[in-house]
Amino acid sequence: MTVSITALEMRGISKSFSGNTVLDGVSLTARAGEVLALLGENGAGKSTLMKILAGVHQPEEGEIFIDGQPTKFARPADALQAGIAMIYQELSLAPHLTVAENIFLGREPLKVAPLGFINQRELNDRAKILLSEYGFNLNPKSRVASLSAADRQQVEITRAVVEAKKVIVMDEPTSSLTDSEVKELFRLIRDLKSRGLAVIYISHRLEELDEIADRVTILRDGKAVYSGVWGEISTDEVIKHMAGRELKEIFPPRNARIGEVKLRVRNLTLKPKFEGVNFEARAGEVVGIAGLAGAGRTELIEAIFGATPANSGEVELNGKQFLSTQPSLSVTSGLSLLTEDRKRTGLCLNLPLATNITLANTGALVKGGRLQSKLETATAQNYIQKLNIRPPAPSKPVGRLSGGNQQKSLLARWLFAKSQVFLMDEPTRGVDVAARSEIYREVNELAEAGAAIVMVSSDLPELLGMADRILVMRRGKLVAELNARQTTQEEVLKHAAVEES
Ligand SMILES: Nc1ncnc2c1ncn2[C@@H]1O[C@H](COP(=O)(O)OP(=O)(O)OP(=O)(O)O)[C@@H](O)[C@H]1O
Ligand SMILES: [Mg+2]
Repeated sequence: MTVSITALEMRGISKSFSGNTVLDGVSLTARAGEVLALLGENGAGKSTLMKILAGVHQPEEGEIFIDGQPTKFARPADALQAGIAMIYQELSLAPHLTVAENIFLGREPLKVAPLGFINQRELNDRAKILLSEYGFNLNPKSRVASLSAADRQQVEITRAVVEAKKVIVMDEPTSSLTDSEVKELFRLIRDLKSRGLAVIYISHRLEELDEIADRVTILRDGKAVYSGVWGEISTDEVIKHMAGRELKEIFPPRNARIGEVKLRVRNLTLKPKFEGVNFEARAGEVVGIAGLAGAGRTELIEAIFGATPANSGEVELNGKQFLSTQPSLSVTSGLSLLTEDRKRTGLCLNLPLATNITLANTGALVKGGRLQSKLETATAQNYIQKLNIRPPAPSKPVGRLSGGNQQKSLLARWLFAKSQVFLMDEPTRGVDVAARSEIYREVNELAEAGAAIVMVSSDLPELLGMADRILVMRRGKLVAELNARQTTQEEVLKHAAVEES
């Protein structure tokens, strides 16, 4: 092991948006050949700090040093030039271009121009080699618009790795990935380390850090509150630094009576995504659905909801046949869907937080034919407080909130819709530990009030901690039903894994 040298130093960085201080004199160092974990609650300022490093935002104060030399990045292209690449939390791919084009073409319009001279076949061949080297099973010719969140994340990772020469920032790279893909990513990270890159790694999945983190810097409310060696700090201490308080339990206890069948799915089929799926969810019950990316979980719950119609099969809601091809109809029937891709199918980014929260149940806010805006604000404020959405500003466009706070806003919408059956796709993606525990408490309250919850998640500790039963999907079929209290991560994975043929 060689002595690590400082590749990057950020010193005294301050930044505010319209008068609100988001970063207040933050310093950090990242060393060549090491992984620096950058942690903090939702809204702590992690992405903003990294966007300053990537030249997306300009700091009001502070300096950046690369190999000890002071540097200024006026534009993202400058940072790229200096060898700094970033995997953005909110994915930044060009949807109309192919996988290969996204990997090799820079975000700069200048670099797109020579496209006419690029040999498409060579581009695709090179992309194919890279993708398979990284263990990603993607077709270089697919259009990015047609890919799932997990696939897009893999394209984003591949692109950044191609660009990175000195520092690579990964802003929640595993939020859409399942276990085996995370393993591939970690293999890739080790490879980057051995090539002498400094890796800055942001994640809310603390349990994965033991495998790759060398050092850690923790932000709280825009200040760096701790920096040190990863192995020298316990998870409890990390959470305490992040939240500024102790967290007793991540999974609060639930005291729900399991009652009548609320949702029944019979032989539901949508080829080639899934086939012959049967299950039920009862009042008071949390049913988990596990599986690898591409197993058909998202497609299944979208079909139940009526967002994409199934080929055949039946769905019963409260004992009655339910056939919806219109999401709005599903919502008024008491069925809601929390989507995995909050930007594409969830939030209206330009609309205020309050509007986003009340959108699915505006009827409840209308009196005498008029929307009561005071009532709307009060309702929003109630959920903002309950879920600790920050900043607590009902009129702020939701697109301005940090990633995790956007996710909480979407959840608030469905809580307010007062559904009886909740379909949730990766409900805590990108949500910090403390806020996750608030979401779990809300889910428990829903179950205790008699709702049925179907939770698709790639986070196995979450399924084991929250579900009563775990259904495992593999290649579009339900292959196992496990009692969440008696099973283990290994057992779930064994069923989820695709058998070699
Ligand atoms: N472009 C912007 N305009 C106004 N406010 C912003 C902007 N970008 C970020 N903020 C605010 O800055 C704060 C920090 O946000 P940031 O995205 O850096 O948090 P984060 O630590 O990455 O959180 P998360 O874990 O949820 O991704 C938040 O309060 C956010 O609302
Ligand atoms: Mg962020």
